[in-house]
Amino acid sequence: MLKQLFYEMQAIKTDLHIALPTPAATDALGRSLARQLVPGLIIYLHGDLGAGKTALTRALLHAAGYSGHVKSPTYTLAEPYELILAGQNVTLMHFDLYRMASPDEFLEAGFRDVFNQSTICVVEWPENGHDVLPEPDLDIYLMVVGEGRAAGLSARSEQARRCLEQLHFAPNL
Ligand SMILES: Nc1ncnc2c1ncn2[C@@H]1O[C@H](COP(=O)(O)OP(=O)(O)O)[C@@H](O)[C@H]1O
Ligand SMILES: [Mg+2]
Repeated sequence: MLKQLFYEMQAIKTDLHIALPTPAATDALGRSLARQLVPGLIIYLHGDLGAGKTALTRALLHAAGYSGHVKSPTYTLAEPYELILAGQNVTLMHFDLYRMASPDEFLEAGFRDVFNQSTICVVEWPENGHDVLPEPDLDIYLMVVGEGRAAGLSARSEQARRCLEQLHFAPNL
């Protein structure tokens, strides 16, 4: 509960606030974000269980051309997806650190090396890895609002600022 309040306070201060009244709106945000993916981008997804972090990642991956099943890598902590962006092979690594017991687990798995200029990293529960995770380019805060959700997006790098400027979120597209 306290964590949720923290997210909501962070989200108020974000660069961009988006209402997501239906799952279709979350899918639309995933599509908008997919158009802005560039190698090396690090996205943190904040929010309570059920806030829509995995749903947003799934929408983003499908919009980026991945047609298979996307489920949260809760037990393996990370799942790689091979994408083709602008004719280039790019790996997107989807992390879910909800069950990470210690930073050693992250380091011993060699995850530190995944954060490089050619890999896109999307991280659920980044709070659990704050000792070992590199800083994000983009923070996304997801919140339950009534029956729907809301998203707050904050750019933490020049690259992410450009992403947000060109996001063109259009829920009906
Ligand atoms: N904008 C929305 N409005 C209502 N329900 C949503 C919205 N976006 C996603 N959902 C639903 O909320 C749930 C989110 O679950 P999930 O993505 O697994 O959450 P998390 O990864 O944050 O724990 C899913 O059942 C999804 O269908
Ligand atoms: Mg999840």
